[in-house]
Amino acid sequence: MSADPLPPPSPNPASGRTGSRTAAVIPAAGRGVRLGPGAPKALRALGGTPMLIHAIRAMADSRAVSLVVVVAPPDGAAEVKTLLDAHALPDRTDFLVVPGGESRQESVKLGLDALPPGYDIVLVHDAARPLVPVDTVDAVVEAVRGGAPAVVPALPLADTVKQVEPAAPGEPEPVVATPDRSLLRAVQTPQGFDRDTLVRAHATVTGSVTDDASMVERLGLTVVTVPGHEEAFKVTRPLDLVLAEAVLARRRHNDGF
Ligand code: C5P
Repeated sequence: MSADPLPPPSPNPASGRTGSRTAAVIPAAGRGVRLGPGAPKALRALGGTPMLIHAIRAMADSRAVSLVVVVAPPDGAAEVKTLLDAHALPDRTDFLVVPGGESRQESVKLGLDALPPGYDIVLVHDAARPLVPVDTVDAVVEAVRGGAPAVVPALPLADTVKQVEPAAPGEPEPVVATPDRSLLRAVQTPQGFDRDTLVRAHATVTGSVTDDASMVERLGLTVVTVPGHEEAFKVTRPLDLVLAEAVLARRRHNDGF
């Protein structure tokens, strides 16, 4: 459970950075009310294993990631530590657990505050995206190593999107605009950052946001995309759990041959 000693730096002479070290912060402090009653979302089981453990393994599977900081529910840090001890995780990765906050933003900030020195790239990955493939994680890290201050995995949209004038739940909402779908992307996590940039964003940007990259945008910096993956979807509603179980079953089936 200790972050020491630091692993050797990963040389990457072909990129804009050499000797970079990458840590992943996993905000896992949400209640997950849209999933229905029960344990905090990150602790609910998928294929018999807590969603959080899947998310941690997804980060630790990347050879680039040498530290994972888990941001636990505010009153659940001890439970999460016990959970980590009870599941097999790669030896080459270090783990830290810190208590989270009221909002996702606050939870990520608490995770960043706990990062030891020596890590210059930070991934922020939702515990609620347990099945992101390692190739997506690696593509994000590679783009940050290449010099981008902020990188998001993104997918084109299948649905047309309407901007509305919000009304009470169940009431008709007037449509005010239809943005050109070809210009829109749905973004996922892990989002990758130059550490100093992300720390500055969290120190200076105020107001509510739904992802970390938008805070970097508000600093006036350019955020770039890499291809996202359909299996990196966020488990939010009960049907997402069904889909996640199906993806796991397909992986197990494919691994069996
Ligand atoms: O609520 P939402 O689905 O956007 O949450 C995304 C991620 O942020 C989840 O992994 C959730 O556990 C985390 N979160 C958090 N602290 C909060 C609220 C959400 O770490 N207070």
